[in-house]
Amino acid sequence: MTDCKLWIPLTTFLIITMLVVTEARIPTTLEGPFKPVTQRLDPSLRRGSDDLPMNDPRLKKNVTSNFPEQIALAISSPTSMWVSWITGDAKVGSNLTELDPSSVASEVWYGKKSGKYTRIAKGVSTVYSQLYPFEGLLNYTSGIIHHVRLKGLKPKTKYYFKCGDSSIPAMSEEHVFETFPVPSPKSYPSRIAVIGDLGLTKNSTTTIDHLIQNDPSMILMVGDLTYANQYRTTGGKGAACFSCAFPDAPIRETYQPRWDGWGRFMEKLTSRVPMMVIEGNHEIEPQVAGITFKSYLTRFAVPSVESGSKSNFYYSFDAGGVHFIMLGAYVDYNSTGAQYAWLKEDLQHIDRTVTPWLVAAWHPPWYNSYSSHYQEFECMRQEMEAILYQYGVDIVFSGHMTLESALQLQTTYQSLEVHVI
Ligand SMILES: *[C@@H]1O[C@H](CO)[C@@H](O)[C@H](O)[C@H]1NC(C)=O
Ligand SMILES: *[C@@H]1O[C@H](CO)[C@@H](O)[C@H](O)[C@H]1NC(C)=O
Ligand SMILES: *[C@@H]1O[C@H](CO)[C@@H](O)[C@H](O)[C@H]1NC(C)=O
Ligand SMILES: *[C@@H]1O[C@H](CO)[C@@H](O)[C@H](O)[C@H]1NC(C)=O
Ligand SMILES: *[C@@H]1O[C@H](CO)[C@@H](O)[C@H](O)[C@H]1NC(C)=O
Ligand SMILES: [Fe+2]
Repeated sequence: MTDCKLWIPLTTFLIITMLVVTEARIPTTLEGPFKPVTQRLDPSLRRGSDDLPMNDPRLKKNVTSNFPEQIALAISSPTSMWVSWITGDAKVGSNLTELDPSSVASEVWYGKKSGKYTRIAKGVSTVYSQLYPFEGLLNYTSGIIHHVRLKGLKPKTKYYFKCGDSSIPAMSEEHVFETFPVPSPKSYPSRIAVIGDLGLTKNSTTTIDHLIQNDPSMILMVGDLTYANQYRTTGGKGAACFSCAFPDAPIRETYQPRWDGWGRFMEKLTSRVPMMVIEGNHEIEPQVAGITFKSYLTRFAVPSVESGSKSNFYYSFDAGGVHFIMLGAYVDYNSTGAQYAWLKEDLQHIDRTVTPWLVAAWHPPWYNSYSSHYQEFECMRQEMEAILYQYGVDIVFSGHMTLESALQLQTTYQSLEVHVI
C-alpha cells in the first residue's frame, strides 16, 4: 500500500469564473461514461525529496507549554467554522502518561473587528497515543487537541479571533478568516487550492510558499499529509519509490512528532485559510490492537455531523455554488455499506439550482497509468462510479501519484477554469 512520493505534490488551483459559453461543444457528464483518457507518466518527475529535519525552525514549537499552536481552520458551513489547535507537550518514550485534556480549556474569542471579541465559543479537547508493541520502537502521546465550532457567523464576512484558555491565561495571537458566501450559482470562493501527497520535505516548502502566493480561499487536501509513517525507514532521505527502495520494510513506528512539525509548518496558512482533509494510505498508521487512522481522526475537525455522515472518513460541504463530496477509499465503500448509503442520501439532497457544481474527491484515483497503482482501486470504482455519473459529478480530484493522471475532468458547464500550476 506504500506509494511513491513524487517530487512535486499535486497542486491545482481552481479558479471559478463565469465565462461566455464557447462554440466548441463539450459533452456533459450526463452523456458519460466516457472512455478514460490517461497520459503516460513522465519518468523525470520520479524524484525523491529530502525530509525537513526535526530541528528545522519551521517545525519547532515556538510557544511555551500551554499556549496554542498548530492552529487550523475547517469549514463547518457558510455560517460556522471549526477552529482547532494544540496545547501542552507531546512526548515520545516508554511508559508515558497521557495529558489530561480537561486541564486546558478550549475557548475561541471572536468578533468582526480586530481586537474586539464580542463572542466566546467553547469546544472539546482530546489526546491520543500511538503505541507500538515492537522491540526498539518508542511510544508517543500527543499534546491536548482542541476543536471549537464557531456558530451563527455571517456569510462572506471577516472574523478576528484568538484561541486558548483565558483562565491560565494562555490565548493565541489574533488571527483572521473570512466565511464563505451563501450557496448560490452566483457566488463562489475566488480560488481553491487542491493539493495532495504533500509530506514534509524541502519540496513541500516550495509547494506551500507557492500556494500562499496564490492566496487561496480554501485548501482541498486530498490525502497523504505528513508521511510520518515513512520517516524512520527512509532516515529523512527522499525515496523516489518507497516500495522499491524498501521492499521489506517492516511495520514501523509512524513517527508522530512529524505530525506536530507538519501542523506548525502549515499553521501560517491553515490559521487563516480553511483546509478540508480526506484520508490517504499514509494516514492508516497501524498500532496496537489493530487501531488505525488515530492521528487523522483526532487532529482534524471535518463537517461530518453537519453533512449527515457518522464518520470523519467521508463528508460533504458547500463552498458557494460548489458542493464538495469527500469520499473514504480506505473504509468500506461497497454499495451495501454505510458510506454508500450516506453518499446516495447526500446526492439526493443536492439542489443543482443552488450549487450547480458538484465536485468529488478521494485519495487514490480510479484511472491511472502508473504501474505501481494500476487498477488498485478498481473495486471502489465498480461500487461507486455509476452513482457519481447518475448524479452528474463534474470534477473528481485525487492524489496518490503524480498530477497528470490524477485529474479526471468532465465538465457539465463551461464556466470553470482549472489551472494546473
Ligand atoms: C525538490 O527537491 C530536490 C532535492 O531535495 C531538488 O533537487 C529540487 O530542485 C526540488 N524541486 C523544487 C521544485 O523545489
Ligand atoms: C519559530 O520562530 C522562528 C524564528 O522566528 C521562525 O523562523 C519559525 O518559522 C517559527 N516556527 C513556527 C512553527 O512558527
Ligand atoms: C508501548 O505501548 C505498548 C502497549 O501498551 C507496550 O506493549 C510497549 O511495550 C510500549 N513500548 C514502550 C517502548 O514502552
Ligand atoms: C510507569 O510509570 C508509572 C507512573 O508514572 C510508575 O509508577 C511505574 O513504576 C512505571 N513503570 C515502569 C516500568 O517504569
Ligand atoms: C459488501 O459488504 C457486505 C457486508 O460488509 C459483504 O457481505 C459483501 O460481500 C460486500 N460486497 C462486496 C461486493 O464486496
Ligand atoms: Fe497515497
